[in-house]
Amino acid sequence: MSGSDLVFKVSPGGHLQGVVRVAGDKSISHRSIMLGSLANGVTEISGFLEGDDSLATLNAFRAMGVRIDGPQDGNVTVHGVGMHGLKAPAAPLDLGNSGTSMRLLAGLLAGQAFDVEMMGDSSLNSRPMRRVSVPLSEMGAVVEGTEAGTPPLKIKGGQRLKGISYEMPMASAQVKSSLLLAGLYADGETCVTEPAPTRDHTERMLQGFGYEVRVSGSTACVSGGGALRATRIDVPADISSATFFMVGAAIAPGSDVTLQHVGINPTRIGVINILRQMGGDIEVQNERIVGGEPVADIRVRSSQLHGIQIPEEQVPLAIDEFPALFVAAACAEGETLLTGAEELRVKESDRIQVMADGLVALGVDATPTADGMVIRGGEINGGSVDSGGDHRIAMSFAMAALRATGEIKISDCANVNTSFPGFVPLARDAGLQISSQNDG
Ligand code: S3P
Repeated sequence: MSGSDLVFKVSPGGHLQGVVRVAGDKSISHRSIMLGSLANGVTEISGFLEGDDSLATLNAFRAMGVRIDGPQDGNVTVHGVGMHGLKAPAAPLDLGNSGTSMRLLAGLLAGQAFDVEMMGDSSLNSRPMRRVSVPLSEMGAVVEGTEAGTPPLKIKGGQRLKGISYEMPMASAQVKSSLLLAGLYADGETCVTEPAPTRDHTERMLQGFGYEVRVSGSTACVSGGGALRATRIDVPADISSATFFMVGAAIAPGSDVTLQHVGINPTRIGVINILRQMGGDIEVQNERIVGGEPVADIRVRSSQLHGIQIPEEQVPLAIDEFPALFVAAACAEGETLLTGAEELRVKESDRIQVMADGLVALGVDATPTADGMVIRGGEINGGSVDSGGDHRIAMSFAMAALRATGEIKISDCANVNTSFPGFVPLARDAGLQISSQNDG
């Protein structure tokens, strides 16, 4: 997965058109394998994201003795082993680029009887893990990272966990989920309070597997010692992957795209709220509930966007969408100001710096700040940018070409496969003039 040699070349101009179904939701795909593995009975999953990140989770559970059939066209069958049925893996678990796998597994594995070691690629191995290891230690877990607080993580099994009440210092669904999963194995009640709403798939899916979660305001609680019951999961398309097409359609004159079967969980729709506030023409159609999650088709037509001050309460609701939203801001009239988004600095790359560098390389007036960015809309030139090995940055700059005056060449794009395998042909079918090639 080093990927340093996959290059996207995108010719300038064009527009996006048609009906598009993007890849399955990454967050829900991870959790479907985790909860399906710990359940009693057989869980059938459809729409599973066959990307490297969710496959890393799938392979980790296989390595811990869970029989998992597939994926085959998005269908996966998980033969659950029950809460105490996992076995020690023969080797350290390699979670590649996937922060969600590592942080959620840290909690889930803290309550097992065996020791485990987890590591990742160079990006994951430099991401902060104290945000989970510190509260997990308070619960009685033994989770050790490097001196810098980064992976590899060593988890010592056989610990007796106790429930805690934890106020998260940052709005992180990964931290919340990690503690709730550890809470399934703890004595008493584990409660997590978040400073702002974050994605609630763990809470919803635990309930879908028949496990009681008590949510009151910004606090979610579970009691340890229960069991999960196998279920069916239909994974919707990922709004974070749909975002690239939403932004592309919004900025490229003549565009009209409908994104099918997209998850519109209220904790994930910041991108719709922000684009609408910028003047985006977005229609949410055929709203329905599928397996406990709201789903809809999203139609986006091009319009003249204008710069805004992005409301801080929208930040956690759009946390993965900022690379694409920065491109929208570069095409908007006037200034867009983002604050309160320091978490972007510890994603798969430092998304504030890497995006600012790329935008500036394309002639955009972009100034990074400690917790956000100031972008003045204007012309986008052709040129070369580096994605920093970050999937969302690669796909965002690809869409920027729709409004550029010359070809955009993006390097280090292999990690697009972590969340959105098939992005290149799908984008090409919709009208993006993109090719990918090994530049070895
Ligand atoms: C995720 C939570 C988010 C997000 C990540 C997936 C999840 O991270 O950026 O891509 O599935 O819980 P944080 O909760 O750390 O912000």
